[in-house]
Amino acid sequence: MQFSTIVAGVMKWGVWGATFSTSDYEQIIRESIAAGVTTFDHADIYGHYTTEAEFGAVLGREPSLRTKMQLVTKCGIRLVTPNRPDYAIKSYDTSFEHIVASVDRSLKNLRTDYIDALLIHRPDFLMEADEVAKAFDRLKTDGKVLHFGVSNFTPSQVSLLHSRFPVEIHQIECSVLHLTPFLDGTLDQCQEMGILPMAWGPLGSGNFFADEADTRIARVKAEAEKLAVKYGVSTDILLLSWLLRHPSGILPVIGTSKPERVRTAARAGEVVMEREDWYRLWTASMGAEVP
Ligand SMILES: NC(=O)c1ccc[n+]([C@@H]2O[C@H](COP(=O)([O-])OP(=O)(O)OC[C@H]3O[C@@H](n4cnc5c(N)ncnc54)[C@H](OP(=O)(O)O)[C@@H]3O)[C@@H](O)[C@H]2O)c1
Repeated sequence: MQFSTIVAGVMKWGVWGATFSTSDYEQIIRESIAAGVTTFDHADIYGHYTTEAEFGAVLGREPSLRTKMQLVTKCGIRLVTPNRPDYAIKSYDTSFEHIVASVDRSLKNLRTDYIDALLIHRPDFLMEADEVAKAFDRLKTDGKVLHFGVSNFTPSQVSLLHSRFPVEIHQIECSVLHLTPFLDGTLDQCQEMGILPMAWGPLGSGNFFADEADTRIARVKAEAEKLAVKYGVSTDILLLSWLLRHPSGILPVIGTSKPERVRTAARAGEVVMEREDWYRLWTASMGAEVP
């Protein structure tokens, strides 16, 4: 698997955020690739099922860009929206038919004949692991998807699916403000099984910059600002470096819609954080020194 160290998340590039025009998409895609951020994280549902096609319009215009990028997308959530009139309530679906049909739509929307990685977006409580494995197997054999993974699963849910089909990627919420994967066995399991972790919300989904009143955020921010000066980078880069320092090989999936922020985020890979500094941020987040 070859993905960039920093992954660009496109969730807020369309109607769920920046409402980019095709030219805006093209600009941020080109600038990301030029900065070394070549992996783009999608989901079928982003923008109520519209963002993949908007991104794909750029590939329709400039097909040569496809060879310079890796596309990750997800499936398995059924979102209630006028774009899916058949869905009566929000639910999950990991049936063979749903997975295969979703990938076919993603391929069409993204104007590509293969997806680099497909993730099951959320754990489906009615998931039949054999059926998911059958769908993955078919998509691999047909050359439509190269790699497979999951997102937001518990370690036992990963183990269940892994017993039927190799899980290669686990995309989880993970940041200095969301430490659960360090504590619940998720990142241990990634290392044990050779699963690549991707961290969504690496900057606390923007909360790090927005919520001035939160004392925990204020504590982390104060520590991060000091360390940012020490390492000669901005605070957001410092926080991404904190994730990159972990031995499981976490790839942060950043959610900015600002091309200049994608460009600078690529610098996170240049910082090698000292062990004690990593623990300074851990301590600030927990509000207490390690036991
Ligand atoms: N698998 C899942 O279930 C799941 C769930 C959520 C998200 N995701 C993926 O992960 C990606 C990232 O998630 P996220 O949006 O939560 O990530 P994030 O990078 O933690 O947060 C992005 C937010 O932070 C703001 N921001 C970034 N740098 C900033 C700075 N220096 N100063 C002020 N604001 C700043 C951005 O605003 P600007 O746009 O103004 O920079 C944006 O609103 C999504 O795009 C999506 O691809 C996956």
